[in-house]
Amino acid sequence: MISIDEATCTTCGICYEVCPDYVFAVTKTGGREIMSVRYPLQCCQCGHCLSLCPVQAITASFIFLNDFEALEPLDISPARLANLIVSRRSIRSFTSQQVPRKMLDHLLHAAMHAGTSSNGQSESFIVIQNRQFLTHLEKLVVDALWNAGLKHLGKDTGLVINYLKKKYGSDFVEKCRAYHGVITHRREDGTLHGDEKIGGMIFRNAPTLLVMHGEKNNSLTQTNSSLAIRTMELLALTMGLGTCWVGFLMAAAQKSKTIKRFLELPKNRSVSGALLIGHPRYTYHHKIPRRDRPVRWI
Ligand SMILES: Cc1cc2nc3c(=O)[nH]c(=O)nc-3n(C[C@H](O)[C@H](O)[C@H](O)COP(=O)(O)O)c2cc1C
Repeated sequence: MISIDEATCTTCGICYEVCPDYVFAVTKTGGREIMSVRYPLQCCQCGHCLSLCPVQAITASFIFLNDFEALEPLDISPARLANLIVSRRSIRSFTSQQVPRKMLDHLLHAAMHAGTSSNGQSESFIVIQNRQFLTHLEKLVVDALWNAGLKHLGKDTGLVINYLKKKYGSDFVEKCRAYHGVITHRREDGTLHGDEKIGGMIFRNAPTLLVMHGEKNNSLTQTNSSLAIRTMELLALTMGLGTCWVGFLMAAAQKSKTIKRFLELPKNRSVSGALLIGHPRYTYHHKIPRRDRPVRWI
């Protein structure tokens, strides 16, 4: 529950202005205008009203002003932040050094401060550092993608290809065909360091894999997870760590009950994000050019 102490409230209206869910309303009592909590059930418990009330007239049963920590002044310039953003690269070669728990806690804390739709905060995290577990999961991912359709994409024409091109478009099918090639060639070729042929193909021998999962029926769970992951990626960069998304795991988990079971996900949850984390073996010194994409100004 949320309430306003009428005696303290100055009816400045800030709570009304900043509330995402229009919980507050101005009411007239005894010829005086006061703010009231008119629609408490609409509250998403974001805490903005408590944070901004200049006279601390608002209290809530779910969040306490005493728990709010003072923010440090921002001392990062736009240019420095922009430099951080363009310096991020997807890292695919890691040293064997494990990422310490303290660093991961720092990243997780930042991830939990990325916004979530309706302040839902319902996406959870699995941190995997067990090598055997990672090796087995990686095998499950390759098998799931192969069996879900990649195995049919070896030829550039034929019944299946033509059907898929009609259904999903040629560009998409050509991209998938590239992945057919990746798996086939990895199986055929020896690897540089003589590891297992498919080993490291998906998880790149990263020491840590972070998996996010969310409510299956929430259409914004992947968006929430993406924001948390990009937040972690940028912070990780400032800590000397490298990261890489694992879309392959997300795609495979959508297809494979075995993967969901292996990750011990309840039926109502799905994998919504996955990130490799480790110490990068190499440093990038260039900003890689991007395609100029259309921007429409209205
Ligand atoms: C949603 C998403 C999924 C991705 N999945 C993978 C993946 O499974 N494996 C991989 O090596 N890179 C993956 N990437 C990284 C992209 O390939 C990479 O962002 C792109 O090549 C641009 O390079 P950059 O991140 O270094 O700027 C993924 C990126 C995103 C945003």
